[in-house]
Amino acid sequence: MVGLALGIAGAVTLVVALGMLAGEIVQGSRVAGANPRLSEPRPFIVTEKPEATPAKGGPPPAAHGAPGTTPPKPEVAATPKAPAPTPAPRPAPAPTPAPADPPAGATVASAKLGEETYNIFCIACHQPEGKGKVGFAPYIRNSDFLALASDEFLRQSIVQGRPGTAMVPWAHLGPVKVDSLILYLRSVTDPNAKPVATIDPAKKHPGDPAAGQALYAQYCAACHGANANGYAEGGPGPAIGNTAFLAAASDDFLFHTIKHGRRGTPMMGFSGSAGLANLSDAEIGHVIAYLRHRNGETPAPAARQADAKAGKMHYDANCAACHQPDGTGRPGFAPSIRNRDFLAIASDEFIKDTIRNGRIGTSMVQRPDLSDQVLDDIIAYLRALPVGNSVTIKVDPTRQLAPRGDQAAGHRKYDLYCASCHGMDGKGYVEGGSGPGIGLPGFLRAASDDYIYQTLKQGRIGTAMRPFLGAAGLANLSDQDAFDLISYLRSLGPAP
Ligand code: HEC
Ligand code: HEC
Ligand code: HEC
Ligand code: HEC
Repeated sequence: MVGLALGIAGAVTLVVALGMLAGEIVQGSRVAGANPRLSEPRPFIVTEKPEATPAKGGPPPAAHGAPGTTPPKPEVAATPKAPAPTPAPRPAPAPTPAPADPPAGATVASAKLGEETYNIFCIACHQPEGKGKVGFAPYIRNSDFLALASDEFLRQSIVQGRPGTAMVPWAHLGPVKVDSLILYLRSVTDPNAKPVATIDPAKKHPGDPAAGQALYAQYCAACHGANANGYAEGGPGPAIGNTAFLAAASDDFLFHTIKHGRRGTPMMGFSGSAGLANLSDAEIGHVIAYLRHRNGETPAPAARQADAKAGKMHYDANCAACHQPDGTGRPGFAPSIRNRDFLAIASDEFIKDTIRNGRIGTSMVQRPDLSDQVLDDIIAYLRALPVGNSVTIKVDPTRQLAPRGDQAAGHRKYDLYCASCHGMDGKGYVEGGSGPGIGLPGFLRAASDDYIYQTLKQGRIGTAMRPFLGAAGLANLSDQDAFDLISYLRSLGPAP
């Protein structure tokens, strides 16, 4: 540790000395780390978790993939030719820090040096501006890619290359040029960029390689090759079965790349109705396990089977007092959670998120102390309870409906149709209502727009919450009415 620190300090001193020799004024603050400019504000939110992750029980981070918590991807067709949506008045993108101009042979990394280096060594394959060429080299100044790829991932990809592909190692360029290349890649500004997720490099996505093999053959082989060798097999996608790639890519990087895709490339996401296919989180885990298994790695073992019997014990001890021993809830006190329609609309992640984070301002307190295993068991128990004819409803957590609604119109409709049960301020039971607090931040954070929409459409059988949409509904509300209501509810909650 000390040796390493001294080594870095030594390197920094050397950099300063060389900089002085070159007659360049090097400011102390710019050499604070081995690679000072890498710590400058970046045009993209770098979503790698900081090293010091707060221990369990700290403020809950946005749960991975929990409906309504993943910043939704704008509903834009991911083809290069798709016209960019005229951005609604949006805050101007943060100005890119003006790159200083170091002289050639500079000893300090900069985006400008990176651009020069790029234009000499990389442009032939990765094309001007890093846009890539389908079937030949990937799009590497792509905001979705850069949001998921850490500096370490980029460095490893450049320094070690991807053996067996046209991407040879570029270690001989030296650390300053490699750092400069990274700064150059990141210096792209894209007003539509939105980080799709936060990558946790330590997070495992377990799965079953055999199940993954079948999914791979069905959904991925056409583009990435039957042997995952990508371009070498004539596919439009790169080699993703490559040992060097799999060493650099964490499970979570793979997971979010597969789930959200890369806008502007043929790699569309694999979730939601706009995706190439709607794979569940578990199915994506199977594909990752397959890629790792065929590469000779031991994939994270498939999750242990949840145990509904143990779940009943945990439920009785922690939940039954409010949600009643049979889970049917009590009007004005706690909602029914063994409800056919609730269980069809609520994903496992939604339920977990609700238990972990509670619903601030209600008696549903947060339980960060319950382990994942206990939560899985409780969910298995709830899902195993007989609920009558089951229904299937697909909720797409990425669908954004609030922007299509009119908040003021929604407010009027809320007062008219919802306030009598959910309270004038949307606080539900705490305002003496018979329904839960749907205007409270805890609910609004966990529930996606589509979750609210589907609840309005479907209602909750056996409870006072009737369906509101269509002729059979309580009020024959239209889709537009629903969008207005969602827009109003969103105005009560935390900013997404
Ligand atoms: C329609 C073609 C197509 C399909 C189908 C497809 N991909 Fe891709 N994929 C691509 C392309 C093209 C890229 C490179 C995008 C770029 O230029 O950045 C890519 C990139 C990727 C990457 C990132 C690779 C890297 O080097 O960072 C991963 C991981 C990936 N795909 C996994 C999958 C998986 C798993 C499946 C199946 C579930 C799949 N893809 C299906 C075309 C496809
Ligand atoms: C001869 C063509 C070629 C040249 C030159 C080249 N690359 Fe690549 N690069 C590729 C190919 C092909 C891949 C994808 C390999 C695969 O199938 O996994 C790639 C992958 C990458 C990746 C990983 C992208 C991802 O989606 O994971 C990065 C980063 C990258 N290259 C950066 C560079 C930089 C920086 C340079 C210049 C120093 C460079 N490349 C030069 C062909 C090239
Ligand atoms: C007659 C009373 C009543 C009216 C009117 C009513 N609701 Fe409800 N609502 C309920 C009850 C009770 C529940 C909880 C059902 C349960 O136990 O699962 C509920 C649940 C919900 C939920 C799910 C909350 C959660 O925590 O998952 C949403 C969303 C919702 N209502 C929206 C609305 C909207 C929007 C309106 C107005 C158009 C409305 N409700 C009108 C009684 C009502
Ligand atoms: C002290 C009473 C209390 C206890 C104990 C409690 N809950 Fe709740 N729970 C509530 C209330 C009240 C709400 C509705 C909050 C609101 O207004 O949004 C709720 C909401 C929920 C919801 C969301 C339902 C929906 O319609 O969106 C789930 C899921 C849930 N609880 C599960 C559990 C589980 C599982 C346990 C045991 C680990 C538990 N709760 C323990 C009072 C309680």
